[in-house]
Amino acid sequence: MLKEIFKPNPEFAKDALIPSMDAYWKLQNKAIEDYDGFWKDFADEKIEWLAPYDKVLDESDAPFYKWFTNGKLNVSNQCIDRHLETKANQNAIIFEGDKGDVEHITYAQLSQRVNKMANLLKNEFGVKKGDRVVLYMPMIPEAAYAMLACTRLGAIHSIVFGGFSSAALRDRIEDAEAKIVITADGAFRKGKPYMLKNVVDEALTKGAKSIEAVLVVKRNFEEITWKEGRDHAYNDLIDAQSDVCPFEAMDSEDPLFLLYTSGSTGKPKGVLHTTAGYILWAQMTMEWVFDLRKNDVFWCTADVGWITGHTYIVYGPLAAGTTTLMFEGVPTYPDAGRAWKMVQDHNITQFYTAPTAIRLLHKTGEDEPKKYDLSKLRILGTVGEPIDPHAWKWYYETVGNSKCAIVDTYWQTETGGHMISPLPGATAIKPGCATFALPGIIAEVIEEDGTPTPVGEKGLMCITRPWPSMIRNIWGDPERFKKAYFGDCKKEGKAVYFTGDGAMIDEDGYLTITGRTDDVINVSGHRMGTAEVEAAIDEHNAVATVAVVGVPHEIKGEGIFAYIVLKNPEDASEELKVAINKVIKAEIGAIALCDGIAFVPDLPKTRSGKIMRRILRSIVKGEEITQDTSTLEDPSIVAIIEGIVKES
Ligand code: WT7
Repeated sequence: MLKEIFKPNPEFAKDALIPSMDAYWKLQNKAIEDYDGFWKDFADEKIEWLAPYDKVLDESDAPFYKWFTNGKLNVSNQCIDRHLETKANQNAIIFEGDKGDVEHITYAQLSQRVNKMANLLKNEFGVKKGDRVVLYMPMIPEAAYAMLACTRLGAIHSIVFGGFSSAALRDRIEDAEAKIVITADGAFRKGKPYMLKNVVDEALTKGAKSIEAVLVVKRNFEEITWKEGRDHAYNDLIDAQSDVCPFEAMDSEDPLFLLYTSGSTGKPKGVLHTTAGYILWAQMTMEWVFDLRKNDVFWCTADVGWITGHTYIVYGPLAAGTTTLMFEGVPTYPDAGRAWKMVQDHNITQFYTAPTAIRLLHKTGEDEPKKYDLSKLRILGTVGEPIDPHAWKWYYETVGNSKCAIVDTYWQTETGGHMISPLPGATAIKPGCATFALPGIIAEVIEEDGTPTPVGEKGLMCITRPWPSMIRNIWGDPERFKKAYFGDCKKEGKAVYFTGDGAMIDEDGYLTITGRTDDVINVSGHRMGTAEVEAAIDEHNAVATVAVVGVPHEIKGEGIFAYIVLKNPEDASEELKVAINKVIKAEIGAIALCDGIAFVPDLPKTRSGKIMRRILRSIVKGEEITQDTSTLEDPSIVAIIEGIVKES
């Protein structure tokens, strides 16, 4: 860990939205003293209410909290219409394609396109309030239009990341009982076309019976198969639509979107976010954490298929009325300077990415940032996993020229927006440390019974008061919702939200996230459930049992390592490893591919049959086994597995 502390750059701190720790504490103390009043003030200031709410926070049916009850609003109004008077000609979205093609979309143009798309969905496909719409899209502006068109109509979008397989897509369509899929023929990556529509076709052949129509945006114009009656070409239909589509008045607690994420069972969870609380916090964190100013151009490199893309490519930036950059390609193509050239060309003021991307950019082009004019950058952000000192130092010195604040933002799909993060004009930064809970967020490191964990020791990262943008439910599974998030920790006898992460508070009150405490692996800043990968591997005929653990990985942070017991040990071969990875790719997608596989005669199990994963984690890391192995059914298995892993 770097021991140095980095104070805010005084030159910019003086004009920052939250310019000092005093200003931070003023806000946070207000929240502590008058929680409802704190949120009321911001809700009144930030949201254009179509009808007033009657209560800030309703805790009567905890943990099914309700915010701003009976208020009416519309998120697409919040992100578009209400800006038109002052920002019609300001860029809302700047799009850069893989091949360098650039398109500027003003707020006025965004309004036209979203209205047309909403009319198309409404008039051609009968999409209405409450319907589920699955998006399986590349990173093109139409993905944002589709999201906003859904919110305009009150339909619930569920975006499935384009890297997921047809089986994963089908599961998500079926769980949500979606009515329509919006996709594209494909897009471009590294100068070449890639395809998405064929994955949708495959997903729909074996199930997903709720789907009535597929709307296809033509992006790369490659040949695709077409099912008459079901498939519809966006490009042919959109021009005829009117660009006036009145927005629905939505209730504060009406569902806004679903987003599936991994948990500790094999089945992904459909995280439900609702309307008012989500958009309020998306806008507030956008403004505070990125110290948003006039003429800023914000670039978040995530994909819209993840929560980061939802909140900080589309909803946060547009609700805050800034300009957001959307990029189709990869930051290292056609060369390792691509990202920095884009920062220069588009006058990027805030750059937000994941440690895994920083490590990749560092490795492939250590000196590349120096070749470009990055002087407009004020803030650099990271998200998704702890950032290691090595990556931090390069990001700060070489990319930020030792002038930019680095905001290490800690949050989750379930939290909707940032929870713990430095404020660039206020917080003295300790590298690798998410620092303090944002104003309004009551975050505590505690034991299961609610007692505070002593300073310097690892405890459980809990958010002990409900907050507006919190997950409201797991789609179709309220019991799992209660158990997964409110089942582990109690404070003063009341269930509190547990993130699943461990954390530590130091003597200065700084929070450091120490990683997941459950069987979830963090691959390239994305959550991957071990049970999900195991279920996929299990699909291969040769496999008897399997256990998957995380393994440190130079670029990805964590990789996936599988210990597999075969039905017939003689089947073990390199070809079988390839075949097993193929099954994973088909069941989940390339993000879940194993970085290593070991065929072992048995797994370390307790006498009651529980697999001791901690031992498996230690073995693959090459650590000495310090755990007590005497409770194992067969303690001798540990040395045998160690031998096999060492050899492989
Ligand atoms: C998990 C959430 C939030 C968008 C990206 C991932 C880990 C996230 C940090 C950070 C250390 C972090 C946690 C968390 N995580 N940000 N700044 N420092 N760890 O979203 O897939 O919902 O994953 O990512 O383990 O629980 P997600």
